[in-house]
Amino acid sequence: MAPSQSHSSSTFSFVVVAIAACSVFSAVPSSASETATASRRSAAGQCNLYDGSWVYDETYPLYDSKACPFIRKEFDCRKYGRSDKFYLSYRWQPTRCNLPRLRGKKIMFIGDSLSLNVFDSLACLLHAAVPNATITQKVRRDFTLYTFEDYKLVVTLHHSLFLVDVDVEPQGRVLKLNSLKNGEIWKKMDVLVFNTWQWWNRRGPKQPWDYIQDGDKVVKDMDRTEAFRTALKTWANWVNTQVDTGRTRVFFQGVSPSHYNGEEWHEPGVTNCAKETRPIDGTTYPGGLPLAVSVIKEVLNGITKPVTLLDITNLSQLRKDGHPASHNGFHGMDCTHWCLAGVPDIWNELLLAQLRS
Ligand SMILES: *[C@@H]1O[C@H](CO)[C@@H](O)[C@H](O)[C@H]1NC(C)=O
Ligand SMILES: *[C@@H]1O[C@H](CO)[C@@H](O)[C@H](O)[C@H]1NC(C)=O
Repeated sequence: MAPSQSHSSSTFSFVVVAIAACSVFSAVPSSASETATASRRSAAGQCNLYDGSWVYDETYPLYDSKACPFIRKEFDCRKYGRSDKFYLSYRWQPTRCNLPRLRGKKIMFIGDSLSLNVFDSLACLLHAAVPNATITQKVRRDFTLYTFEDYKLVVTLHHSLFLVDVDVEPQGRVLKLNSLKNGEIWKKMDVLVFNTWQWWNRRGPKQPWDYIQDGDKVVKDMDRTEAFRTALKTWANWVNTQVDTGRTRVFFQGVSPSHYNGEEWHEPGVTNCAKETRPIDGTTYPGGLPLAVSVIKEVLNGITKPVTLLDITNLSQLRKDGHPASHNGFHGMDCTHWCLAGVPDIWNELLLAQLRS
């Protein structure tokens, strides 16, 4: 679905605003700075960005997935046969405020494949805004970097399933709940967006560790929610003691919901998202919140430095229609990740809105 001409140009101006926000840029087109001022004003009032509903809006999606060279096969639903189109055109409408337009900064996403999903989305949004920009890609070990050369803008993904370390030792792979070695790299960024949860409950061959170390104890297994809480506290302590939050903005990306249990949306017997083409109406998901949400909120509340929760759980729960289902490059049923264009584009709009405030 090609965006209309007027939409392309508005996308263009808002991401130019985004890019112009980086300190490396001096010239801001006057129309763009007016847009920025107007949206700053609308963002200033008291409102909860995360309380709202999905509104059909034909000016979405924010880019044409066919034109974006960065979409992994896992997320490229249109390419892999998804033909319904409603899901592409929903805008998030907070109940008591309007979403300000996108503005960008240098960003590193750190986490599991949900970080990859939102990282790909941002690359597409920026690419759609400046299609002729020179963009170079580098992959080094667990890092993927896109550099928008003309703008000296670097968007990086650090693939890290648990944030804390997994070390290979003589007895096997040890998940170390109190050890976080990559902080020195993270600290150099302007914006950090962390996420972890999906992998904490993996068991059997998909579990990427053999032992858990908690303090002096090395155990074969333990309560996974407790392990998650301990690791998050290690991360929180790192933020508190190591990050200069005057220079680096820190975000934690909330739990991304899956849709495999139709009972949660009053369709008992439904076990995946294959037939879903529309969001849930209204502001509330019948199924309630995943347990990890309260653990994350509790740990974030204990951090004294400013850390912002990207509270995307509720609004994404409403989007049972937003997943690839079988429309992806490996043809497994996937109701965990999200199609691009799609829901992670809105997460990025919320992220960039908060970056400014
Ligand atoms: C990008 O380059 C093409 C070909 O040189 C040109 O036709 C097009 O207008 C350019 N687009 C933008 C947004 O500058
Ligand atoms: C999210 O949903 C839960 C219940 O499912 C509710 O208690 C909470 O207030 C909601 N949060 C927002 C921001 O709407």
